Amino acid sequence: MSASLEVRDLHAGYGHVGVLEGVSLELPEGGLVALVGSNGTGKSTLLRALSGLLRPSSGSIAFDGASLVGANPAAIVAQGLLHVAEGRRLFRAQSVRDNLELGLWATRLAKGEAAARFERVFTLFPVLQERQRVRAGILSGGQQQMLAIAQALMHKPRLLMLDEPSLGLAPAVIDQVFDAIVQLRAEGTTILLVEQMVERALQIADTAYVLQNGRVIGHGPAHELRNGDLIRQAYLGASASRKVASHPIDTERNPS
Ligand SMILES: Nc1ncnc2c1ncn2[C@@H]1O[C@H](COP(=O)(O)OP(=O)(O)OP(=O)(O)O)[C@@H](O)[C@H]1O
Ligand SMILES: [Mg+2]
Repeated sequence: MSASLEVRDLHAGYGHVGVLEGVSLELPEGGLVALVGSNGTGKSTLLRALSGLLRPSSGSIAFDGASLVGANPAAIVAQGLLHVAEGRRLFRAQSVRDNLELGLWATRLAKGEAAARFERVFTLFPVLQERQRVRAGILSGGQQQMLAIAQALMHKPRLLMLDEPSLGLAPAVIDQVFDAIVQLRAEGTTILLVEQMVERALQIADTAYVLQNGRVIGHGPAHELRNGDLIRQAYLGASASRKVASHPIDTERNPS
């Protein structure tokens, strides 16, 4: 059900501007890996390269051993690698249910299978079942984030990449989103989590990678990184940053 991912020496950018300068990372099957780093270091760029939205200039990406370099985004989704982008891209004028269904338009599913996927998503996020007839645009921020994750889940991901799922959400809703991530992982989905709430991400991840200026400056067991200096260096080493300023990593509330 889950899948592994191995990225080697990946370079990617926009036009002539290089962003990723040789990124390597490994996600074991069923693992939960956090990717952290200050603003503009290339976290979202990495996810875009992995999901085929951006073509790497060099390097390799192996998803369960098969190369993804050059594959188009739809083919990558079909293989079970799903990307929940930063900023919740939803069809705001469509209902919650239509948003979930629209994600499946290109996929031929047996009727029973579609129903089973709805049921799974509604079990994880009951509020989406309650609000399934409501337009996505009037959902709260937290509900929109749940819907964005749910859209990806409709594709039965073997590996799920989440880009800053907590961004802009109230603390109680952040708890729900993190609970859902833990639940998905427990069900066997491999997860790559990009998060600005570093402390929270490290609490649930097995392994973490720290990205700075398009390079991995360190990685290791998440609990070790929590207690080390590397992360602090990565954030303090960066220039003044909007998110770090608004979410200092050492003043975050411990949820337990
Ligand atoms: N579409 C684009 N065209 C040109 N440059 C871009 C584009 N998207 C991002 N960049 C640049 O690439 C660099 C990396 O951006 P990216 O969005 O990957 O960073 P990030 O680590 O996700 O940051 P954040 O924490 O703010 O989300 C930045 O310098 C950014 O300005
Ligand atoms: Mg980003």
